[in-house]
Amino acid sequence: MLKDLGMVFVYIIASVCIAAVVFNQSIAGFLATLGAGSVVLGFALRGLLSDVFTGLAVNFDNNFAIGDWLIVPSSTGTGGTVGQVDEISWRCTRLTCEDGTTIVVPNSIMGEEKVINISRPSVWTRYQVEITIDYSVPVERARHILMASLQSATAKEGFSKNHAPKVLVGKTGKRGVEYLLRYWIHPWHPLSPSTSRDLVLSAALQHLQTAGINPAYTKEEVYYEPLPAKHFQGHTVADKVALLSRISLYERLEEVELQRVAEEMERLQLSPGETLFRRNEEGSSLFILIEGLLNVQIDLKGDGTEQTVGQLSPGDFFGEMSLLTGEPRSATIQAQTNVVVYEIYRPTIIRLIEERPEISESMSRAVAKRQMALEQARSQMADSDAAAKVQSITRQLMGKMKNFFQSREAQ
Ligand code: CMP
Repeated sequence: MLKDLGMVFVYIIASVCIAAVVFNQSIAGFLATLGAGSVVLGFALRGLLSDVFTGLAVNFDNNFAIGDWLIVPSSTGTGGTVGQVDEISWRCTRLTCEDGTTIVVPNSIMGEEKVINISRPSVWTRYQVEITIDYSVPVERARHILMASLQSATAKEGFSKNHAPKVLVGKTGKRGVEYLLRYWIHPWHPLSPSTSRDLVLSAALQHLQTAGINPAYTKEEVYYEPLPAKHFQGHTVADKVALLSRISLYERLEEVELQRVAEEMERLQLSPGETLFRRNEEGSSLFILIEGLLNVQIDLKGDGTEQTVGQLSPGDFFGEMSLLTGEPRSATIQAQTNVVVYEIYRPTIIRLIEERPEISESMSRAVAKRQMALEQARSQMADSDAAAKVQSITRQLMGKMKNFFQSREAQ
């Protein structure tokens, strides 16, 4: 290449000298034309020039030589082309591939991209085959079987006898454990990488199959579960349990506890305008609203006409004030729409409170809030005063409840 370039240079100098000495021409004009021409030419041939200069650099670097096997990156960026160097010219490098074809790689690519030289620093190159085995196979067992297969394959001609083959756990993934079977060959002397791969993989598959192990394949685990009911009528105990478990008051109860409550409660239906119970009546049960809306009414002015002071929505419980304190019903409860409620009787609630004290606490808090709301409705009390009072009423109520239950137990 240097010779070729040197020759071109000598020809140009000789031509200039002949023009000056023999034909008596001015060199200055020629040099000016040559300068302008070389700029235009340089721009037009920039790709070619880049190849030439990278070719020079590649030659000086001496990173590969004729006869070396190289992996040249492919234009798509995935994988690479494997070939043996046949010729390095001043513009390109010619490689002969495994399949007998020739590829011509511009020197600019050879200089700029990552080229792997399989033949250096030693002619022996390490290759590996990956094989994935299910998690159910213990690692040590899989390793022994694969090692035996690898040793039988690498005992054949073409595999290095000076580099010990190895079986390593590469990684774990969705399919199982990936094992790496590593071995050394002198590529194409006489084994090609693909032939060595064929020998190693065939031996591994045969050893695994005889040992009763199949390589892992992609699989999905499917669990079947009965479909949840689309809707609950609320007539059966199972339906009642399902509905109760959605109510905040009972959400922490175990299935058996819910079942006991469900067995002992009654389902009631009201039409719009119907009254469930009236203020000042005796009451000894708790209600849970499942469907519809209920109005809480009291006689605010004391003239016998009742006004709505609160509204109950599905999931709310009510009737706890009389149940827990033994006092008469503090308000009238009337249906605004079609309504479904569950009535739970005192013995069930007493047992539940004994087993789960936290239920009495959340009920007392509700009682205190509702008493406050009733008082506020009667006296137009400010919100800030009401909040402070709720706390003190909760405490009082807890004490009141305790006495009430103790006195009932004594009876
Ligand atoms: P009890 O007094 O047994 O009967 C009437 C019920 O109405 C009462 O228990 C509470 O559960 C409920 N209640 C009273 N005041 C209100 C209110 N302001 N908001 C919602 N519910 C209330």
